[in-house]
Amino acid sequence: MTTLVIGAGPAGLAAVKSLKEAGLPVQGVEKNSDVGGQWLYGAPPSAVYASTHLISSKGTTAYADFPMPPDWPAYPHQSLVSDYFKSFAKHFDLYSDIEFNREVRSLEPHGEGWRATFNEGPAHDYTSVIIANGHLSDPLMPKIAGTFDGKVMHAKDYKTPDIFDGKRVLVVGMGNTGCDIVVDAIHRAKKVLWSVRGGNHFTPKFLAGKPADEGNHKAKFVIPKWLRSRLHEPVLRFLVGPPERFGLPKPEHRLYDRTPIVNSLVLQHLGQGDVALRKPIGEFRGNKVVFTDGAEDEVDLVLLATGYEITFPFLADLNALSWQHDAKAPRLFLNVFPKDDNGLYVAGLLEGAGVGWPGRALQSDLIAAYIKAKQSNSAAASDFRHRIEAWHARAPEKDRGGHGIFVDFLQYKRDLKREIARLSV
Ligand SMILES: Cc1cc2nc3c(=O)[nH]c(=O)nc-3n(C[C@H](O)[C@H](O)[C@H](O)COP(=O)(O)OP(=O)(O)OC[C@H]3O[C@@H](n4cnc5c(N)ncnc54)[C@H](O)[C@@H]3O)c2cc1C
Ligand SMILES: NC(=O)c1ccc[n+]([C@@H]2O[C@H](COP(=O)([O-])OP(=O)(O)OC[C@H]3O[C@@H](n4cnc5c(N)ncnc54)[C@H](OP(=O)(O)O)[C@@H]3O)[C@@H](O)[C@H]2O)c1
Repeated sequence: MTTLVIGAGPAGLAAVKSLKEAGLPVQGVEKNSDVGGQWLYGAPPSAVYASTHLISSKGTTAYADFPMPPDWPAYPHQSLVSDYFKSFAKHFDLYSDIEFNREVRSLEPHGEGWRATFNEGPAHDYTSVIIANGHLSDPLMPKIAGTFDGKVMHAKDYKTPDIFDGKRVLVVGMGNTGCDIVVDAIHRAKKVLWSVRGGNHFTPKFLAGKPADEGNHKAKFVIPKWLRSRLHEPVLRFLVGPPERFGLPKPEHRLYDRTPIVNSLVLQHLGQGDVALRKPIGEFRGNKVVFTDGAEDEVDLVLLATGYEITFPFLADLNALSWQHDAKAPRLFLNVFPKDDNGLYVAGLLEGAGVGWPGRALQSDLIAAYIKAKQSNSAAASDFRHRIEAWHARAPEKDRGGHGIFVDFLQYKRDLKREIARLSV
């Protein structure tokens, strides 16, 4: 009857806690030596770099039942965030439910449930498995024609800015990672170039001295995201300015259709001429990078901040998660439930500013509510099952983030809460 939880990052920790609180037997495993996932700086799966601060404010990001200390800054440094998860695990007594330095190597259907094998020790059988393995650990490496004499590295391996000292650096990609790294590089490199493809909206961290994202969370009812976009885009254009004014591409999506860039510093550096924009890379040619508009530059270091792939290396048959080959991602009802009622659940696989760790906790509460309802064979569980199947029967909606995992945080949290309530009758 035990549920296995793979990973002790923000989503896995929430899962262990939810199941425990629901009185369901649970065993967590984590390949790192401690909790925190991405926030355990320096651990192999972590893509966090030394200068990382949250881009979502502490009030909107921390678990609802475990606020960050009042004397912490609004956007804490990654070292504080790491401490936060350790305190969370201690406070809710989760350490004793998680085995550390234990990596799931394979997961195969076995009887009514799943058999897991590990890096060491015997295999174990579980009735259900919550997969909370994170999706920002396997670099997405673009294929670039030609050969390059300098160094090419992905942002996953970037930790400290000393690597830029005296170098001509090209940063590729305009996600939040690319923006942070451009700012880091400016203070150390001889020259910084920035290769940008698609556009995005920029939001500031503070408005009137307060965290800019707080307002959205205070809404008493959910304004549809298309209307929110139309209301807030003019405010951003007034306060920040259109990205095109800084030479960046015009975003082709609405504000709330993708995670925005939360970084005012990079715009200031663009405006100051500290960084020069470039088109996407066409090819490498010796010590030069040639861009799609024909421009070419001599470069020492190319840093690819080009995002991550979604992977489940321990799962031989990805169809168990309703895998979509075109989106390179599973298709999951509420980002959690595959088509088949096979005992697999995914936690934490989402993009969407504002979801924070409360959103991950709601996912886990929903999984716990469903497992409980299934055990009592309740009508609520079969109603929920019908909703899962009806959703899977519909054609997938495209999102602007590519993998189909983007959620609108207000709507998403409301949907999760509604399903928890329906299952808990
Ligand atoms: C630089 C950076 C900044 C970010 N800033 C923010 C922010 O401001 N706000 C925000 O909300 N989000 C932010 N994020 C997103 C961040 O990923 C989430 O906050 C959160 O860490 C996701 O939690 P998770 O548990 O889903 O995944 P992760 O944190 O990635 O945790 C997954 C865990 O699973 C473990 N694992 C994986 N495979 C196995 C296996 N086979 N066996 C055992 N264990 C396994 C890993 O070791 C890891 O500990 C940021 C991400 C990065 C990279
Ligand atoms: N400080 C923080 O809190 C912080 C910092 C970093 C990251 N994060 C979070 O971590 C997650 C991952 O962020 P990320 O920035 O690493 O990845 P990302 O959001 O997936 O962004 C990847 C970027 O690379 C670009 N790109 C991909 N291939 C390219 C190519 N061949 N040429 C040029 N550009 C290319 C993409 O452009 P297109 O748009 O054209 O596809 C996109 O701008 C996000 O949720 C992010 O918000 C938070």
